[in-house]
Amino acid sequence: MHDDDQPPRAQHTWHHLDEEALATLAQRLAAWLRADPGRANLRLTLHGELGAGKTTWTRHLLRALGVQGRIQSPTYALVEPYEVTLGTTAVTVMHADLYRLSDPREWLDAGLAELMDAPGLKLVEWPERAGRLLGTVDVALHLQHDDDHHRHLTWQARTAAGEAALLALRSTP
Ligand SMILES: Nc1ncnc2c1ncn2[C@@H]1O[C@H](COP(=O)(O)OP(=O)(O)O)[C@@H](O)[C@H]1O
Ligand SMILES: [Mg+2]
Repeated sequence: MHDDDQPPRAQHTWHHLDEEALATLAQRLAAWLRADPGRANLRLTLHGELGAGKTTWTRHLLRALGVQGRIQSPTYALVEPYEVTLGTTAVTVMHADLYRLSDPREWLDAGLAELMDAPGLKLVEWPERAGRLLGTVDVALHLQHDDDHHRHLTWQARTAAGEAALLALRSTP
């Protein structure tokens, strides 16, 4: 059975988040990763319609992890890699947007399987496009429109690591 067929280990929804509140959650996740860089071997998928805020969430997280300069949406490149330093540890972050992947087999052809299996933090928009090739997902994030300026964010923890991160996010005031 595939992971996605199982109910999440833990789930929480934050309602009516403006972009600042969304950024605050991304910053808390970054702080949790920074406290123990070993935590950064995490695979996070981002679900939600166009304009839901998947790239916006990712940008805030990358900024909070110390990425400077322009953060492009990898809509055409499929994957944009970043190197960040957490404490003294170098961590590779992969931001993928699979919207333009028309066939899961392209996933293999483009060498994405190797990239995704390498250590580091993975942030994947439109994971549905990779079918079941993506492998184990620690966290599935679902973004939904509330109104023009607010979103609902559901965090589905699918592994112990994803659950630990959720506990940390919820316990910070
Ligand atoms: N509360 C919010 N959270 C996230 N994005 C928001 C919010 N309010 C407005 N927005 C805007 O909605 C748009 C989301 O676009 P984007 O992040 O590119 O979506 P996606 O990657 O899901 O297609 C951005 O222009 C962003 O500024
Ligand atoms: Mg996007």
